[in-house]
Amino acid sequence: MRALDFNKKWVLVTGASSGLGYEMAQQLAYQYHANLIIAARRADKLNQLKADLERDAHVQVKVIVADLSVSADVERLIAECLNGQELYAAVLNAGITHFGPHADLAQDDFERLVQTNVISVVRITGELVKHFETSGAEGGIMIVSSMAGIFPVPYQAAYSGTKSFLIGFANALAHEIKSRTLSLTIFAPGGIVTEMTATEQFNDLQGWLMPVKQAAKEGIYALKSRKFNYVPGALNRLGNIFMNLLPKKLIVGILARTYQRSLEKVSPAGKAKS
Ligand SMILES: NC(=O)c1ccc[n+]([C@@H]2O[C@H](COP(=O)([O-])OP(=O)(O)OC[C@H]3O[C@@H](n4cnc5c(N)ncnc54)[C@H](OP(=O)(O)O)[C@@H]3O)[C@@H](O)[C@H]2O)c1
Repeated sequence: MRALDFNKKWVLVTGASSGLGYEMAQQLAYQYHANLIIAARRADKLNQLKADLERDAHVQVKVIVADLSVSADVERLIAECLNGQELYAAVLNAGITHFGPHADLAQDDFERLVQTNVISVVRITGELVKHFETSGAEGGIMIVSSMAGIFPVPYQAAYSGTKSFLIGFANALAHEIKSRTLSLTIFAPGGIVTEMTATEQFNDLQGWLMPVKQAAKEGIYALKSRKFNYVPGALNRLGNIFMNLLPKKLIVGILARTYQRSLEKVSPAGKAKS
């Protein structure tokens, strides 16, 4: 399959109001001249991004204000993406976490986590794959997972589960796709400097985090060059190989102690909230 060419094509980026999604939207517009459909809950941030990109990057931008934990919003987003303009690529990036003991995660918040990180992604991916298969159009879909989906992170147990689900789902689904012009990419970053990691519970872990510009650049590279599973950062990739050689219990135990220490600096009882 030839590499994707985003020039003047429509690309959906969910979770574009901050962090990785915001940065990928910027790079797709300025460096690749893509037209964008940007989605998230915060209308003010999306409208500001639209104004900036239309004025300075000279691309077209469509805003979809949607709460992806609400299925009616997910259906509206799908309809708006598939009607009106030809969708070329999608970056399914919106996601949330809970950092703290699993016992502190209220059932409602857990359900919102699963709706946002898993159910919306499965629904959108399924509909986009059908669309590309039926139309025969060229395109690419990238699902943003996490290294926490490869090596589960204690104190982000539910989050790790959602990201692991995405890796399993997308790796399996990719083999069901018959189109020769549609690629499915699974992007699994380690920690990144974004709003998600801006809370004081992450203070002790800041040294591990990758600058968001680098993560975004590698994400777009992975989508564009139709990588299948992609971990950004040479150190992360090396770590991934190395950790795979060791017993999972040992690795996850080390992660548990590291994350617990960071949490305890904020709340000695380990009761920090997300
Ligand atoms: N930061 C990390 O260390 C890290 C590491 C690996 C993977 N990731 C993944 O990277 C992705 C982006 O995260 P980030 O680090 O950039 O975090 P972030 O800065 O908090 O951005 C999350 C984005 O998702 C959107 N979002 C959250 N809940 C939503 C909902 N219910 N409906 C619609 N949009 C929603 C947010 O927009 P609104 O609040 O405006 O809705 C925001 O634009 C996530 O999938 C995350 O799991 C992050």
